[in-house]
Amino acid sequence: MSGFHALVIGASSAIAQAIIQTLEQDPTCSGITAVSRSDNSHRNSDKVHFVVCDYQQESIEQVCQELMPWQGKIHKVFICNGILHDKTMQPERKIESVNAAQMAACFQANSITPMLWLKSLLPVLKGTSATQVAVFSARVGSISDNKMGGWYSYRASKAALNMLIQTSAVEYARRAKNVKLIAFHPGTTDTPLSQPFQRSVPEGKLFTPSFVAQQLLLLMNNIAMNNQAAYRDWNHQEIEW
Ligand SMILES: NC(=O)c1ccc[n+]([C@@H]2O[C@H](COP(=O)([O-])OP(=O)(O)OC[C@H]3O[C@@H](n4cnc5c(N)ncnc54)[C@H](OP(=O)(O)O)[C@@H]3O)[C@@H](O)[C@H]2O)c1
Repeated sequence: MSGFHALVIGASSAIAQAIIQTLEQDPTCSGITAVSRSDNSHRNSDKVHFVVCDYQQESIEQVCQELMPWQGKIHKVFICNGILHDKTMQPERKIESVNAAQMAACFQANSITPMLWLKSLLPVLKGTSATQVAVFSARVGSISDNKMGGWYSYRASKAALNMLIQTSAVEYARRAKNVKLIAFHPGTTDTPLSQPFQRSVPEGKLFTPSFVAQQLLLLMNNIAMNNQAAYRDWNHQEIEW
């Protein structure tokens, strides 16, 4: 089968699931590798192959080694990992709520894990075909856009992610010129991550995962391949870093 191969990391994300469903229907996509902490192997199909990974550095390196047979053939990558809250933590509304455990958890999931993928994927993605890597950031990671304050750990970990994407883009431009890195803001999307915060969202601004998946795929298909990192929202608009 010809066509491009896609890699979806953080495959249990509601948006990642929608991306996988959309790509499954796309005749130009010949196969999808979907990576998650959860074992989804019972959902393997002709087109989708689920892989389990605990996101430790060695595990990420191992998955990327296993992807080497697809070197130069993976043309779309989605790094969907991110945490905002869990049973033990909520985004900080005031400075007194800042604590080391929450900061470390946010930086691990939102900054370090995506960076380890960018590191280990470089030799896999290097090739001649145009390849887009969408890394899920957030508008709150924009330093220049920060008027509201709050959400210290999430905000700072996404700002750090943006810097890691920019820095990686400088090196990818030298070593994997065919790759475009995109820091993507999906907008407020109806997923478990945004669930506790949906009440304040204006009408018509809470998106479905499938709408966001389609917008992202359109963006990736049309974006200029210019060796610079892009920071774009669901509507394809640029966000100031
Ligand atoms: N929903 C929104 O309104 C919104 C707005 C702005 C930005 N975003 C960003 O969009 C991305 C996808 O979010 P979503 O809304 O689809 O959320 P979600 O359904 O809650 O998905 C969570 C994602 O994070 C991964 N994850 C969870 N805990 C992790 C940990 N400890 N270490 C590493 N990865 C972990 C999961 O991967 P596994 O498959 O391995 O479990 C999954 O990919 C995130 O980066 C989020 O920050 C979302």
